[in-house]
This record gives sequence, C-alpha cells and structure tokens, in this order.
Amino acid sequence: MISEQMTIALNKQAAEEAYASSVYLSMALWCDAQGYEGAARYLMASSEEEREHMQRFLQYIVDQDSAARVPAVAEPPHEFNSLPEIMKQVLELEMSVANKIHAIVDLAIAEKDHATWNWLQDFVAEQREAEIKARNILDRIAVIGTQATGLYEIDKMLGKMAEEEEEEDED
Ligand SMILES: [Fe+2]
Repeated sequence: MISEQMTIALNKQAAEEAYASSVYLSMALWCDAQGYEGAARYLMASSEEEREHMQRFLQYIVDQDSAARVPAVAEPPHEFNSLPEIMKQVLELEMSVANKIHAIVDLAIAEKDHATWNWLQDFVAEQREAEIKARNILDRIAVIGTQATGLYEIDKMLGKMAEEEEEEDED
C-alpha cells in the first residue's frame, strides 16, 4: 500500500510522462514535415517510450491498490526552430523529467517506502541513460556542424540510431 501523497506524486508523474510523449510526437511530426525522416523516426520511438512510462506509473499505482488517474495532457509546442534546437530541447526535457523522478525518490525515502523506492530505480537509471544519449547526440551534432550537408548527416545519424534501437528491441 502506498500513501495518499505518494499516489498523488505518482499520478502527477504519469501526467509528466504523457506530456513528454506529446512533446516528442509533436517534434517527430515537425521533423517529418521538414523532410527529416530519420529524426522523425527517432523521436516517434521516444514518444512511444514515454507513453509506456506513463502506463507503467499508472499500473504501479493500481498494483498498490491505489487510484490511478489517466491524465489530461497539455498542448505541446507545435513550432520548432531547427533540428539541432530540437535535440537541445530533448536534453532539457529529459533533465526536467529526471528532477521530477528524483523528487519522488526523495518522498519515498522520507516515507520509508522501500518498495516504491526500489521500483523507481529503473526510472532513475533510464533517465540517466536518456541524458547521456541526448548529450552524445549534441556532441555529435557539434562535430558534424550544420554547414553544407550537416543537417542531412544529422538526420541520417538519428535514423540509424532509431533503426539500431528497433533491432535491439526485437532481440
Ligand atoms: Fe519517461
């Protein structure tokens, strides 16, 4: 059984994950419209991942015999400046989600809720990996640059990353 405060915090996190999913979906559609097919594929996969995170939070609440609430989702941004700018926003988004998860970990510690603390560790690890991945992409974008065929190369790189991850998931 989890506390009322923990139930509220986990439901709120489900809403954060749903919002992240919408932001990624909006980014993916923008990229698609600009002709960045690789980036669109990469961001679409991220959107699906975030939706799955939302479901995992809701499922955990139900499994603890508490009341899960499917969240309303605020409208994400629809306009983006450039592909490199989007990848910067990805890092910011993941860092902000990580902070929110850390706050729930703090709550679990304060409440001596060891079960929830333990369950949250998968998300702590996932956020750490998401942050590393976003930083790596930004580093590679800095190396490739946006001159000449730079944006084309960046799009190709993201498409390849999406493809590799899809293959990993199949294994
Ligand atoms: Fe997430």
